[in-house]
Amino acid sequence: MAIMTIALPKGRLLEPSVNLFRGLGYRCALGEGSRRLIGEEPTGDTRFILAKAEDIPVYVEYGAADMGIAGQDIVRESGRDVYEPLALGFGHCRLVVAGPAGLKGRDFRLASGLRIATKYQRLARDYFLSQGISVEIVRLYGSIELAPKVGLADLLVDVVETGRTLRENGLVVLQEIMPCQAALIVNRASHKLRLAQVSQLVAAIRRNIPVEG
Ligand code: PRP
Repeated sequence: MAIMTIALPKGRLLEPSVNLFRGLGYRCALGEGSRRLIGEEPTGDTRFILAKAEDIPVYVEYGAADMGIAGQDIVRESGRDVYEPLALGFGHCRLVVAGPAGLKGRDFRLASGLRIATKYQRLARDYFLSQGISVEIVRLYGSIELAPKVGLADLLVDVVETGRTLRENGLVVLQEIMPCQAALIVNRASHKLRLAQVSQLVAAIRRNIPVEG
């Protein structure tokens, strides 16, 4: 049988993702200062690959990975057609609209031409459209909190975990768009063609998810 490929995201979700698979008995030899992007298990039936978080849904949709771990924010933003059988109970955060405290309670439907800085173009556009607010999206690649501080945008849409980045930059949450956490995503063909193998692994992962209180 062809080797099973599991894609793990660089960044904040890497450590809990590696721990999850190690908890299931995999060696999962990735990360930890190494620059190796592929780690094959000694059993030879599974390999882990390390990709940029935003690219995980792409690897999984195309079947280059049978499954992967990605934030729900990233999965929704990607619009990729993948099967999402399981939320993993770690990597909790919130996708929010944030801005200067002075804008708290403001009805943005009355504003026109608001500029929104974000990495989440699709989710930001859909959110403001659903509110009947027309906005201009400014796509950035990081340090989004900077944009309203220096006049690049009026507001931002980004994920908030501890709230520290907003706080230290004098910004506040104005509206919540959605709660997010890490999710397991599976290639749709793999899910059908390798059903037994995939279901077994999904069930084992499910048994290892921390119970949410
Ligand atoms: C993310 C996000 C916020 C921050 C939120 O950025 O874009 O900036 O974390 O976390 P907090 O609420 O715990 O402060 P990341 O560190 O991934 O870097 P980036 O700004 O380069 O995207």
